[in-house]
Amino acid sequence: MNWKIFWNSVASQTDNVIAQVQRKKDENLSLTINHIVRNLQLTKSSQVLDVCCGNGMITKGVALHVKSIVGIDQSENLIAVAKNKFHTNNSCYSVGDALALSKVIQHQFDAIYVQFSFQYFDKKGQGEKLIAEMLRLLKPNGKIFIGDIPDYKKRFVFYNTLKKKFYLFTSKLKGTNPMGKFWKQQELDTICKHFNVKGIFLEQPKNLPNAWYRFDYLIEK
Ligand SMILES: C[S@@+](CC[C@H](N)C(=O)[O-])C[C@H]1O[C@@H](n2cnc3c(N)ncnc32)[C@H](O)[C@@H]1O
Repeated sequence: MNWKIFWNSVASQTDNVIAQVQRKKDENLSLTINHIVRNLQLTKSSQVLDVCCGNGMITKGVALHVKSIVGIDQSENLIAVAKNKFHTNNSCYSVGDALALSKVIQHQFDAIYVQFSFQYFDKKGQGEKLIAEMLRLLKPNGKIFIGDIPDYKKRFVFYNTLKKKFYLFTSKLKGTNPMGKFWKQQELDTICKHFNVKGIFLEQPKNLPNAWYRFDYLIEK
């Protein structure tokens, strides 16, 4: 799947900002925003990077808690919405590939997060490359929060009927599966070991909308 084409196309099909990033229409976004702020221990002096920021809906919520925030996404259509609808005085948005962050950004951040997006780094080596890029842009003692990662252990909790399993099988064969990769905790642990940083697996609080099949992961430099 070419995710840039996929997300530009999703964004061009609707003006509904929730649908543009395929979130649930009754979702309480402040739960997710507060969860990111708490895990990264963000304060009014934090300089933050939101990788794969989409249309900036979450970025704007986090911006209220920090000194400044930069949002990066490879979808031109979603960044256009972010600039129009989710701009704040302390935020800025740019189009860029998360796998080449250092091409777009030169300075370092206190904290970096990737929310609801790690599954799109589904080709061999891409998860490791993304983490390498983020570590490069992270200040010493900074933290990276990877939120809402589909859990490999729970893939059949997600694809829980014969019909859904059949869809998984055929869509994978055709390369049209829109879910991306279900990750194993161990794969993230191995990446962190390789970079000699501390990786912490986090079970999500049950009140988060995707806790039934996703987990979080915190990296400390
Ligand atoms: C489900 S949306 C999540 C948006 C936002 N983080 C949120 O939580 O609402 C996934 C986003 O990942 C972005 N994305 C996927 N692969 C990317 C890449 N290699 N570089 C930058 N953005 C990417 C897509 O363009 C899309 O905006």
